[in-house]
Amino acid sequence: MFDNTHAHITTWVIAIILFFVAVGLHNAGKAKGMKVVHMILRLFYLLIILTGALLFWKHQGIDPALYGIKGLVGIWVIGMFEMLLVRMKKGKDTKVFWMLLALSLIIVLFLGFRLPLGIHIF
Ligand code: HEM
Repeated sequence: MFDNTHAHITTWVIAIILFFVAVGLHNAGKAKGMKVVHMILRLFYLLIILTGALLFWKHQGIDPALYGIKGLVGIWVIGMFEMLLVRMKKGKDTKVFWMLLALSLIIVLFLGFRLPLGIHIF
């Protein structure tokens, strides 16, 4: 949990899947199902932050600025998940938030896979 990124990756992959399941349930008109999945997703927000924070406290000395930005952009992604689901429930426009979600996800994946632990793609 402190030295490898497996637990962190597991939590955000499950969260992304749960987010799209919630969107699918909303589009299918299944409000109750969406509510349940949204609740489980909120638990995963906490697990993402917990596993990310554990990695952060142990390793941020390597590059404090970039690790700080990585954590903040991770929280931005979670914020966009939440804004989108809440706005969908209320029937509000979501276009801007979809664009911001795509942008934040690209940045967080780029930074995550660039930073020294775990997988290196960039
Ligand atoms: C949905 C939100 C998030 C996504 C999609 C995400 C994605 C990633 C990815 C792709 C990696 C690299 C894994 C690897 O190289 O094996 C990573 C590592 C990391 N994440 Fe996140 N993350 C998210 C949220 C957070 C949050 C909220 C924090 C801080 C509280 C955080 C802190 C970290 C740290 C410290 C690392 C280790 C960096 C390194 O590879 O050296 N992440 N994350």
